[in-house]
Amino acid sequence: MTQPLWTAVDGYFNDSLGANDAALDHALAASRGAGLPAIAVAPNQGKLLNLLARSIRAKRILEVGTLGGYSTIWLARALPEGGRLVSLEIDPHHAEVARKNLAFAGLDGVAEVRTGAGIELLPKLAAEGGPPLDLTFVDADKPSNADYFGWALKMTRPGGMIIVDNVVRGGAVVDENGDASVQGVRRLAELIAREPRVDATALQTVGDKGYDGLLVALVKS
Ligand code: SAH
Ligand code: DHB
Ligand code: MG
Repeated sequence: MTQPLWTAVDGYFNDSLGANDAALDHALAASRGAGLPAIAVAPNQGKLLNLLARSIRAKRILEVGTLGGYSTIWLARALPEGGRLVSLEIDPHHAEVARKNLAFAGLDGVAEVRTGAGIELLPKLAAEGGPPLDLTFVDADKPSNADYFGWALKMTRPGGMIIVDNVVRGGAVVDENGDASVQGVRRLAELIAREPRVDATALQTVGDKGYDGLLVALVKS
């Protein structure tokens, strides 16, 4: 029960339940063509992000780590009329590819990609004020997970959600002496454990992207 079967099962559900279309396929193909790494969320994971955003009626979404905008498209499509998404990306080339992919998907008026380091852009975003966030997807440099989570929490409404990608890393998360990414996840778990404002859980996932997992935190009402 390993990778080929995980990939086949992902394919089965993505085909039977629907998790692909022209704009999403275009985003992946254009990202690959532009030399971006193939590390976007899987189609069924993107769809889960979309369903979660819709289930809490998210109107204001933040993403940290845009890459080619694949997860951004899934999230932006969850927004109602007047909804807004801001996605932060440190690599100007990734940001440029993402902006084009969002335009191709008809979402350039809804989703804005800001270029810069998350840790520099987040305080600026917070200082802008405006309505609170409903949902944040943290999917950038893993050592900074806890910092991103902290900023997201400051800006999120009660009942809002914060989702963090890649918290399992092939199981490496249980290694107390793991690499900087593992330490980033473990620091996040420690932060959440002593944070009374959120309830959280994490799920291990297998699939086309291998063995990894997602953390989902809900800001208490
Ligand atoms: N969310 C995307 C995948 C993101 S991959 C999707 O699922 O489609 C991680 C991205 O985070 C990369 O594009 C990388 O350039 C970006 N990144 C890395 N360090 C960052 C930082 N310090 N600030 C903002 N973005 C960063
Ligand atoms: C990597 C980053 C991701 O966000 C991901 O989903 C998978 C892999 C990486 O940096 O290797
Ligand atoms: Mg990821």
